[in-house]
Amino acid sequence: KFDEVEAYELEIESDEVNIKAGTAEGIYRGIKTLEQLVVLSHLHANSNFLSLPGGEIEDHPSFEYRGAMLDVARHFFSVADVKRYIDLLSSYKINFLHFHLSDDQGWRIEIKSWPKLAEIGGQSEVGGGTGGFYTQEDFREIVQYAKDRFITIVPEIDLPGHTNAALASYAELNCNGKATELYTGIEVGFSTLCVDKEETYEFVEDVIREISEMSPGPYFHIGGDESHVTPEEDFNRFMDRTLEIVKKYDKIPMGWYELITADIPEETLLQYWAKSADFSKVIPKKSKILMSSASYNYLDMKYDSITPLGLHWAGYLPVKKAYDWDPRSLVPDLDADQIIGLEAPLWTETIEDFDDLALMAFPRIIGHAEIGWTPKKRRNWEDYSQRLSYHGSLLDHLEVKYYGAEEIDWK
Ligand code: ACM
Repeated sequence: KFDEVEAYELEIESDEVNIKAGTAEGIYRGIKTLEQLVVLSHLHANSNFLSLPGGEIEDHPSFEYRGAMLDVARHFFSVADVKRYIDLLSSYKINFLHFHLSDDQGWRIEIKSWPKLAEIGGQSEVGGGTGGFYTQEDFREIVQYAKDRFITIVPEIDLPGHTNAALASYAELNCNGKATELYTGIEVGFSTLCVDKEETYEFVEDVIREISEMSPGPYFHIGGDESHVTPEEDFNRFMDRTLEIVKKYDKIPMGWYELITADIPEETLLQYWAKSADFSKVIPKKSKILMSSASYNYLDMKYDSITPLGLHWAGYLPVKKAYDWDPRSLVPDLDADQIIGLEAPLWTETIEDFDDLALMAFPRIIGHAEIGWTPKKRRNWEDYSQRLSYHGSLLDHLEVKYYGAEEIDWK
């Protein structure tokens, strides 16, 4: 009966509540539904008695991959902040957290065989703050915390561009043998590893090996986006070797869609993020695609013209727009069954602390979570916006400072 790992049944009767599933994960998803019912019923009760709506539901997800991404490179977030985000994500049944661990502005993970990556590259962030990094102990703690909540961590080391923090830490990674300066601005596309040096591949292999050993999940994300100063032929040659290394450490490669110019193995998971004329033409029909459209999924896009934080290069992203679309039909030339799911990235150029994160993620991430869980034919904005209007009180209760968008009639 429960042939999907996350499927569950919830029965609320007058004298008992039952959750049934075929796996612990299914039970966990059911508990999260019950928890929401209990807390919302309590917060909106008219008396001192808690009463729950009775009934029976059979439930399972529409997509197997329902993700969030956190950029800890542009601004660093503490272990406690990450755990708090994980708790919130798990209550909405998100099952992957993609960790953008390195970029031009910072390197955020201790690598024992290349210690200066964290010691030097971990000391900067956008705007000139002190940055920070996760020790391997910290990272393992986060991985376990997420696993306990049925969330899989996807580590990303962005290669071969978006690498200034590494290039500033080790002179030998640069073609001219000179370390770059640490960078605290928000430009993109100016850095690249030196693809013709053997040291580069020793670096890539050590980093992938050390992080893979700490990461029980199936994927290793190698970035690949916006390598504007790496000639295409060099990029492809670099990726051929890097993809081999990912395979050697038994991970499924994952990358931003720009990876399609390289000779990618069939199992590679490609992450769609921006409109590209050639995307739908060259994408192999066998490839799995994760939808992270800048126009629909990027949590760093402002809601509207008065949002105090965020960017708007992909337009404004109001709550309705973020909810009212279908990942299986957004890019017409892709087959619906290629779409493994969706992921909502939060890039942190303008996001400095947990309150900033909360303002951009909530309430939009709740809509992303529902797109991931509920089939299109059972979703509509009128019904969703009504239900969402009650979640402001839940977020208030948790002291999560969400964006009180006027589109919603908050209860
Ligand atoms: C990206 O936004 N550069 C993936």
